[in-house]
Amino acid sequence: MLGRLTSLSLVVLTLLPRIVLGDNPINAGFPYGSQKVRGVNLGGWLVLEPWITPSLFDNTGNPNIVDEWTFCQMQSRATAQATLTQHWNTWITESDIAAIAAAGLNHIRIPIGYWAFEVGPGEPYISGQLPYLQKAVTWAGNNGLKVIVDLHGAPGSQNGFDNSGQRLSFPGWHSNNTNVQRTDAIIKQIASMFAGQTNVVPIIAPLNEPAGFDGTAVLDVVRQYWYDSYGNIRFPYGTSQQGNTVVLLHDAFQPLSYWQGFQTAPNWQGVAMDTHIYQMFSQDEVSRTNQEHISAACAEASSLSSFDLWIIVGEWTPAPTDCAKYLNGRGVGARYDGSFSGSTRVGSCTGLTGSASSFSSSYKTFLRQYWEAQVQSYEAGSGWIQWTWKAENADDWSYQAGLAGGWIPQNPTQYQYPNICG
Ligand SMILES: *[C@@H]1O[C@H](CO)[C@@H](O)[C@H](O)[C@H]1NC(C)=O
Repeated sequence: MLGRLTSLSLVVLTLLPRIVLGDNPINAGFPYGSQKVRGVNLGGWLVLEPWITPSLFDNTGNPNIVDEWTFCQMQSRATAQATLTQHWNTWITESDIAAIAAAGLNHIRIPIGYWAFEVGPGEPYISGQLPYLQKAVTWAGNNGLKVIVDLHGAPGSQNGFDNSGQRLSFPGWHSNNTNVQRTDAIIKQIASMFAGQTNVVPIIAPLNEPAGFDGTAVLDVVRQYWYDSYGNIRFPYGTSQQGNTVVLLHDAFQPLSYWQGFQTAPNWQGVAMDTHIYQMFSQDEVSRTNQEHISAACAEASSLSSFDLWIIVGEWTPAPTDCAKYLNGRGVGARYDGSFSGSTRVGSCTGLTGSASSFSSSYKTFLRQYWEAQVQSYEAGSGWIQWTWKAENADDWSYQAGLAGGWIPQNPTQYQYPNICG
């Protein structure tokens, strides 16, 4: 406990007696321990991703535009602004939210970048996303859905992925305290904004996928940032009064055993862990057979069920390959067909991504089995949120396309393969 106390932020330190008492468990806006999270991400909306909307990138005619940063930097600002506004207005509307609710889901996770809140000097980002987040929260409330507000891009980039806003060879968030402090201020702003409506926004994710794989220098910053975020989210009024918002930490790509005992009750209240499970970002994983993909998904259940916080699989997909165009980055190929530098070809990508009209019935049967294996396995924890609701040209990833194509059931508890995990 002492080691933990010394690394608490000043804000939390001054409020520590209340936390240590642990006498005031929060009143969460969703019963995370007793009801399963079943949800979908609204990817590629308020943070651009080249693979989700390749047309926005192809239409620039500039192959160096590879993320939202360069999208705003390397074309006329008026064009970028007009394209973004059109995209924000059309990619997700209230009818999408209604369709998600009608599909029996209870959560949407909405990625948003720091630049929706503030843009620093020399940063090309265009803001204007925040009113759309607020609209989506209204639509979610209208349709009985819960919203996870997910900070997906931090200043300097927390992982160097294009989906953080900035594709970099090495991330720059953790090594610069100004970046971290700016992020703290944004989390305070988000927490305060939604503290009064935890029935619709029960949970905030203070940072998506920080690059824990880069080592302890990153992990030390992440751990401290999780302490600070706890204070910022649990005490959203700037006083000692506690709020009811659940804090959703990301595992920073560490095994759950690394986080065992971190921010657990009774000293900490209302903390959940987010883990992302993909099976296509390495040669070994894209080389798996269908049965191996299913077995690997089923094998996740034991570590999920024994973890000591609420554990949500906040990103996963029925797609078994990295074939979707630009999935590994604009201009980067796929491991599966050997077009990714240094990869070994497994097979042709034809019929495995793009439009479902090219999917064979046996592929669709596999997608259904793999989807069910994951859902059943991840419900050994606190539930799941599929990545992602829609994509321009990657139906293997799209919840909407899966509903239309029949490999995702209209009711997510309606299994065709109830014993798929044995
Ligand atoms: C740290 O990041 C800030 C922006 O958040 C930037 O202005 C500053 O130059 C960076 N400092 C260093 C040493 O890179």
